[in-house]
Amino acid sequence: MSFSLCTSWVWMLLFLGCTLGQSKQTRSAGSDVRNCTTVPPYLPSTVTNTAERLQALRQRMQFYKIRAYIVPATDAHMSEYIAEQDARLAWMTGFTGSAGTGVVTLDKATLWTDSRYWIQAERQMDCNWELQKAVWIPSIGEWILQEVPAGESIGLDPFLFSIDNWKSYSQALRNSGRNLIPIDINLVDLVWDAQKPPPPTHSIYALSDEFTGNTWQNKVSEIRTQMEKHPKRPTAVLLSGLEETAWLFNLRGDDIPYNPVFYSYALLTKSNISLFVNQSRLTQEALQSLTAGCPGPLCVRLEDYNKVKAHLQNYVQGDIRVWIGTEYTTYGLFRVIPEEKCLQESYSPVMTTKAVKNTKEQELLRAAHVRDAVAVIQYLLWLKKNVPLGSVNEFSGARYVDQLRQKMEHWRGPSFETISASGLNAALAHYSPSNVSSRKLSVDEMYLTDSGGQYLDGTTDITRTVHWGAPTPFQKEAYTRVLMGNIELSRLVFPSGTSGRMIEAFARQALWKVGLNYGHGTGHGIGNFLSVHEWPVGFQSNNVPLTTGMFTSIEPGYYQNGEFGIRIEDVALVVETQTEHKVGDKPFLTFEVVSLVPYDRNLIDVRLLSAEQIQYLNSYYKTVRQHVGPELQRRQLQEEYEWMRSNTEPFSQGVLVAASLGLLAVTILISEFLSNLQA
Ligand SMILES: *[C@@H]1O[C@H](CO)[C@@H](O)[C@H](O)[C@H]1NC(C)=O
Ligand SMILES: *[C@@H]1O[C@H](CO)[C@@H](O)[C@H](O)[C@H]1NC(C)=O
Ligand SMILES: *[C@@H]1O[C@H](CO)[C@@H](O)[C@H](O)[C@H]1NC(C)=O
Ligand SMILES: *[C@@H]1O[C@H](CO)[C@@H](O)[C@H](O)[C@H]1NC(C)=O
Repeated sequence: MSFSLCTSWVWMLLFLGCTLGQSKQTRSAGSDVRNCTTVPPYLPSTVTNTAERLQALRQRMQFYKIRAYIVPATDAHMSEYIAEQDARLAWMTGFTGSAGTGVVTLDKATLWTDSRYWIQAERQMDCNWELQKAVWIPSIGEWILQEVPAGESIGLDPFLFSIDNWKSYSQALRNSGRNLIPIDINLVDLVWDAQKPPPPTHSIYALSDEFTGNTWQNKVSEIRTQMEKHPKRPTAVLLSGLEETAWLFNLRGDDIPYNPVFYSYALLTKSNISLFVNQSRLTQEALQSLTAGCPGPLCVRLEDYNKVKAHLQNYVQGDIRVWIGTEYTTYGLFRVIPEEKCLQESYSPVMTTKAVKNTKEQELLRAAHVRDAVAVIQYLLWLKKNVPLGSVNEFSGARYVDQLRQKMEHWRGPSFETISASGLNAALAHYSPSNVSSRKLSVDEMYLTDSGGQYLDGTTDITRTVHWGAPTPFQKEAYTRVLMGNIELSRLVFPSGTSGRMIEAFARQALWKVGLNYGHGTGHGIGNFLSVHEWPVGFQSNNVPLTTGMFTSIEPGYYQNGEFGIRIEDVALVVETQTEHKVGDKPFLTFEVVSLVPYDRNLIDVRLLSAEQIQYLNSYYKTVRQHVGPELQRRQLQEEYEWMRSNTEPFSQGVLVAASLGLLAVTILISEFLSNLQA
């Protein structure tokens, strides 16, 4: 799914994508949303009364002499999904959507969130909170300038803002006479205090060798080599992203939803490794793995999670240079490092190394996708049988596909909340059904399902759109053009080191040609049993260049407001390819699609496809048969096997040949007829 693009860590750059697609949504407001213009205000039972919380927060604000306080939706690691203990914005506002920013002044409180959450916010917030539907940081900056007089201060918790985010805010307030003040104590926590959920306690475990691409010791050595080779001579790397520590040490946990990671930081020097984590949560095995090399340069010293700042403060006293990634490191930790001792890059070397999967990791991810394809094929067949009976709704469908995955080997959970959207709901690109609002699936509507699994060997993410009845010609055309975009990008050949941004338009070309488009990104990286949205691979301007071994999703779509939505998403591996000619000594690249589920034939208008696109599609279908066929048979899923076979029948290029032969015949006849006339 593409929706990482709207989450906290990249939203600044990509807000356009998040608003474009949905800004025109209109949904009639029913009585399930608040109405703050009536007297007294109308509040549905789903809102939270925030009066007391706000009053308590304002008292703290006065104590710290600030006129406004900014409350973000993320945690100290810029995680896309957060644990309950970090749901400060939700507790303050009542609004539980995954993205948003709140600003509280002494007399006002305002929430900014993107369009997918506007209705939800009106259902959950009381009238103490205003909802702003504008683009975040610029609008937040303007709002603050309006509400906070010059000479006054605005506070925030520097451990909840990345360096990049901090910079954006200070930019917005620069030269305005207002001060942005970091306050190390979180003011919401002071108020939340007694009711705040406890930190997670699940155990942190070592991933067994069969599921890792390398030992953690080798990974550490590789990062150390990169430190040595770096012209700026860093003496240490600071890791703040949770998937960085999980990947580096081959450990996994269950601290936040959907991503198998655990609260931690790491400081890696040439001679020492410090892992900041609650040590009592490590399994015996994990502990042994980390400390087997003690003492020595491959000995992990375990320190309290809360000690990272103090440790860093101490470390920076020496003659050192700390390498950090500005996307994931918080301003709170950054502040501790003197400027001349800090090497800032967008990403840490762990982030960029993790993005390139080695042969073993590639094999693991491929294997996970074969099992995942079995589950999705089972689901599509089940839908085909059950939707006509009228017995499936969006929510029960979502639950069922999750259950099918659950039966697969190595399954550990969904990789994000399943999107299951019928008819007009699919036009809301991020829609997920709930047990209280769920549309019935029907043969008269298009249905979009975007889901994925976490398996010990890999993380998956796939979207298919289907129609079981008679799609309109426009629906067919739109679907086919989305598919053409998916095909054109998937089969593209490009030089090594090309940035995703440069080739992204291939996924849009067929839509653009007829004046259609989609308002979200075209893809994102994905992990080996890690994040479903793995930074920094993808097709945005701030993604890294594509190289062999990277995995990315490819997911064009089309959304017709109030009617239907289409998205076709596959995960693909960047591979070398043979070209007839070659400039330079680096190989040319292309994609190998590893998601192996047929597209909906009922929605494909073959006449729109070029001969090369048909050829590509046929060879993809051959791959599906080769890899998923034996797996379906092994599981004795005979009906699924037959469904897969009939849905991967090669498309005949003969259609085109026959058509042109026909034309030729007609031409000959006509010309004969004409010459006969003349004769
Ligand atoms: C709120 O109530 C006012 C007054 O009854 C009404 O005019 C308005 O349409 C309502 N707004 C919403 C969003 O229901
Ligand atoms: C560390 O984990 C243990 C076991 O789950 C828990 O009892 C303890 O409170 C945790 N310590 C901290 C500081 O969170
Ligand atoms: C490495 O750890 C040892 C043992 O705790 C400590 O004495 C030493 O100062 C550390 N070295 C560095 C470079 O941090
Ligand atoms: C709906 O889901 C919520 C949250 O999971 C749960 O608390 C509630 O009981 C469910 N309601 C129904 C009608 O199943």
